[in-house]
Formats: sequence, C-alpha cells, structure tokens
Amino acid sequence: MRVLVGGGTGFIGTAVTQLLRGRGHEVKLVSRQPGPGRITWSELSESGLPLCDVVINLAGENILNPLRRWNETFQKEVLTSRLDTTHLLAKAITETAHPPQAWILVTGVGQRRLRLRSLALQRAQQARDRQSKQTLFHDSLLPAKPD
Ligand SMILES: NC(=O)c1ccc[n+]([C@@H]2O[C@H](COP(=O)([O-])OP(=O)(O)OC[C@H]3O[C@@H](n4cnc5c(N)ncnc54)[C@H](OP(=O)(O)O)[C@@H]3O)[C@@H](O)[C@H]2O)c1
Repeated sequence: MRVLVGGGTGFIGTAVTQLLRGRGHEVKLVSRQPGPGRITWSELSESGLPLCDVVINLAGENILNPLRRWNETFQKEVLTSRLDTTHLLAKAITETAHPPQAWILVTGVGQRRLRLRSLALQRAQQARDRQSKQTLFHDSLLPAKPD
C-alpha cells in the first residue's frame, strides 16, 4: 500500500511510519520541512495529492509544548494547525482523479465530551431499567384483575 502521512515526523507518525515500512508499505510524509521521502504542505496544495491508497493526518502543534504559554495565540495555533492541514488534505483528496481508499484523522478534540455524554446516556438507561423492574415487581404483587 502507498500511505501518505501528514505530520508523520512526530511521536506517533515516526512509529506508524516505521511499522508500515517494516511491513513493506510505501510511506510518504507531508511536512513543513522539505526532505527525502517528504513533500511540503505547499507542494501538496500546488501539485495535488500524490498517488496513494491511504491518507493519515497527524499534523498539529504539540498541545503540551513546554516552550509555549497556554495563551490565546497558542490555543489558536493548536486549532488552526490541525484545521489547515486537514483542509489541505481534504481539498487534495476531493480534487484528485484517484482518491485513496481510506482517510484517517487523529486529534484529541471531543473525546471527553463524547465520553461524558455516553456515561450520561448509560446512567439514564440504567435509571429507566431500574424503574421498569420496580414497576414489574410492584405489578406482580397486585392481585390479578378480574376480566
Ligand atoms: N501523543 C499522544 O499521546 C496523543 C494522544 C492523543 C492524541 N494525539 C494527537 O495525535 C496527533 C499526533 O500526535 P503526536 O504526539 O505524534 O504529535 P507530535 O509529536 O507533536 O507531532 C505532530 C507533527 O505535526 C507537525 N506540526 C507541529 N506543529 C505544526 C504546525 N503548527 N503546523 C503544521 N504542522 C505542525 C510536525 O511535523 P513537521 O515538523 O514535519 O511539520 C510534528 O511532527 C496530534 O494531533 C495529537 O494531538 C496524540
């Protein structure tokens, strides 16, 4: 398979790239820096998507960057670095005559909210189940109604 990895030079990208190459897959990275086995984000937007079967985006400013203060500018950079790279890849995928079979995005956004929501839904369901068991128990204690 030919795999294109945005932000593939990072912590997860390095491991994913190593794993894929070790299994005989062809991996190309999209990076801010040019280099062997890479294209830059501007090359991607100018020349379009290289021929590939899978696209993965891992690019984004490191949320835990110890050299940066958690201020408005940094928060905006965390967000836009993910949105802009995703938009560039999405545009390239939309415009290519040979779209990939899979398109994988990795961000941490929304995980906590989804988990809280699913916990809330789970608790509501448990409360409904308890209520319906109590009603069944209560009904079973009542004498049968005459027809
Ligand atoms: N590591 C974790 O435990 C973890 C957990 C949950 C979610 N995630 C998410 O998974 C993704 C990858 O994580 P990671 O730990 O591999 O991240 P990482 O080590 O910080 O690497 C991300 C890559 O993104 C590129 N990048 C950094 N700043 C950028 C910017 N301002 N604009 C465009 N590209 C930028 C860099 O590549 P170039 O320098 O080559 O451009 C960098 O190698 C991130 O979205 C992260 O939030 C990670």
